[in-house]
Amino acid sequence: MPDLKTVVQQLDSLRSTLNQYNYQYYVLDNPSVPDATYDRLMRELQQLEAEHPSLLTEDSPSQRVGAEPLSAFKQVQHEVPMLSLDNAFNSVDMRDFDKRIKSRLSPSAAASLHYVSEPKLDGIAVSLLYRDGVLVRGATRGDGSVGEDITLNVRTIASIPLRLLGDAFPQVLEVRGEVYMPKRSFERLNERARAEGGKLFVNPRNAAAGTLRQLDPRIVASRHLEMCSYGVGLIAGGEVADTHSGTLQRLQQWGFRINSEMEVVDDVDGCLASHDRLLAKRDNLPYDIDGIVFKVNEINFQQRLGFVARAPRWAIAHKFPAEEEITRLVDVDFQVGRTGAITPVARLAPVFVGGVTVSNATLHNQDEIERLGVMINDSVIIRRAGDVIPQVAKVVVEQRPDNARVIAFPSACPVCESPLERIDGEAVTRCTGALICGAQQKEMIKHFASRKAMDIDGLGDKLIEQMVDESLITSAADLYRLNADQLASLERMAEKSARNILTALEHSKSTTLAKFLYSLGIREVGEATATSLANHFGKLAAIQQASIEALLDVSDVGPVVAQYVFDFFHAEHSAELLSNLINVGIHWPDVMVKSDDQLPLKNQTFVVTGSLETMGRAEAKERLVALGAKVAGSVSKKTHCIVAGPGAGSKLTKAQELGIEILDEAMLIALLNRYQQD
Ligand code: IVH
Repeated sequence: MPDLKTVVQQLDSLRSTLNQYNYQYYVLDNPSVPDATYDRLMRELQQLEAEHPSLLTEDSPSQRVGAEPLSAFKQVQHEVPMLSLDNAFNSVDMRDFDKRIKSRLSPSAAASLHYVSEPKLDGIAVSLLYRDGVLVRGATRGDGSVGEDITLNVRTIASIPLRLLGDAFPQVLEVRGEVYMPKRSFERLNERARAEGGKLFVNPRNAAAGTLRQLDPRIVASRHLEMCSYGVGLIAGGEVADTHSGTLQRLQQWGFRINSEMEVVDDVDGCLASHDRLLAKRDNLPYDIDGIVFKVNEINFQQRLGFVARAPRWAIAHKFPAEEEITRLVDVDFQVGRTGAITPVARLAPVFVGGVTVSNATLHNQDEIERLGVMINDSVIIRRAGDVIPQVAKVVVEQRPDNARVIAFPSACPVCESPLERIDGEAVTRCTGALICGAQQKEMIKHFASRKAMDIDGLGDKLIEQMVDESLITSAADLYRLNADQLASLERMAEKSARNILTALEHSKSTTLAKFLYSLGIREVGEATATSLANHFGKLAAIQQASIEALLDVSDVGPVVAQYVFDFFHAEHSAELLSNLINVGIHWPDVMVKSDDQLPLKNQTFVVTGSLETMGRAEAKERLVALGAKVAGSVSKKTHCIVAGPGAGSKLTKAQELGIEILDEAMLIALLNRYQQD
């Protein structure tokens, strides 16, 4: 049995190594060891602590979770009040802020001040109190003077140190920052809730707030919150730094996550440039931000400037356009998609949200309408974050008017009146009209003519809709039978445009098998799958005759896709459509079927993210697929490799977490060239 002194040394060493690994992983985003090593050391620590319970300490990395649920939170008095910030909404407000500051400082101070810009994280403000380097209390902001004691909950957050790293920290140190839920954790939480029929959160901020309010720390631990620190409160028995940027640097050395987008700028123009840079980056950040905070960097100037009411004079929040707004749901339309899927679309009183005016939002499907409990004339919260289509996030039930009406899901197709069907276990309701449904015809033809499919220049969506409405065409093959007179008879169609369209149609007849397959609009057959099918079978007839088993041999094809492809080629009208298309003159060169050794990336799944400067994402995908790789849209355990260009966001983070190989553009080019020379 080792003596107690040796055990103490072992415990110290394990704890400090684990703290260091944790710091590298959660604070610096730079893991230094594989997860398995961390897990092994953690098990060693837990075992040693179990053998020597008297040596167990509260700040041991093994002690993050485990406490029993509380019955209520205690109140906490903030020794130094937690303030809020004034807002600026445009550059005029920002220049006023700069002038106000300079007018209160001496000319020499005004000439030498700097600003720090930091993203304004959309989460929950917290205060963390450390005594002699050990976390003793975590609290919410509350009303700024009194908050709630959430110590047990903050202890579960991996980016919060239970014990400060390094030394030279003040005896008493209060660190302040934002606890937030990364976008990806939020999506996962909602996906899980959706699958289990649980409550969905409207946005990551509400999810973070709802999580911190949990009385059971085990729930908090399961939800992946992060904390980013942006300042200090109470300090005693030591010093931090004489600039704000220096403070953040010290905080990082002591074990806290600070925002990597933080920068020091010289003047208000620098602030505005920083604002524009971050606004452009907003959608690609792995967390939500609702603006940017500018702070005077020099602490002595901050002290001279002081406070007004509940906000400091030396800082301001420059807000970004809101991503959520409230409006009225005026009506619901039911749209029919290419594959017959019926999508309820909310018609809204126009509202400015996420930087654009929104008057429609998707309601997805029948289940979503029920889940939201939404009615016509309700007040609804619309969320539009980034390029994502606007969503109805929530109904404001308290504001339901007397004229609210139930949304009746149709029982027949609103366009062709064919019966609707909903397959057990699927969320989507579909029109069974297929090729006789005008809506499906329009969407099929639009897809057929689109750039990545047959690329028929000048044949826009409106024109196709008009041609179907006027019964000039009912299928893609009809396009090739149009004459100049028919085209010229269409509204707003000049003779020259009609001629151009005929030329484009003629031009489009010469294509590739992959593009032709893609243009057919088979369910789940995107460009990559179409290319795989073409490369694998070489001839259209071979795909038409392929059995499910033969289809499953294709690198990009699983059972669901195989079934869709099989069903398509065995559907009543498909043979006719295909022979019509070939009879009007569509043709392609033969595809040389590659053997497995010509497909060096067979069975490997790639994800391409961020911007690629020399070749672009589309070309990168095409070239990877040509080598047999599968290119997926999201990162999972099955991903072999991700190609990440500048601006890569959550996919890159996830790949790092999963330890997936990461290539930059130069490495990708080297890889492609290596195989293409062979
Ligand atoms: S500084 C005295 N910096 O915004 C300065 N606040 O309206 C007080 N916030 O409650 C805050 N990111 O929760 C600061 N980089 C940042 C921030 C930030 C988010 C939140 C904070 C505060 C609110 C102020």
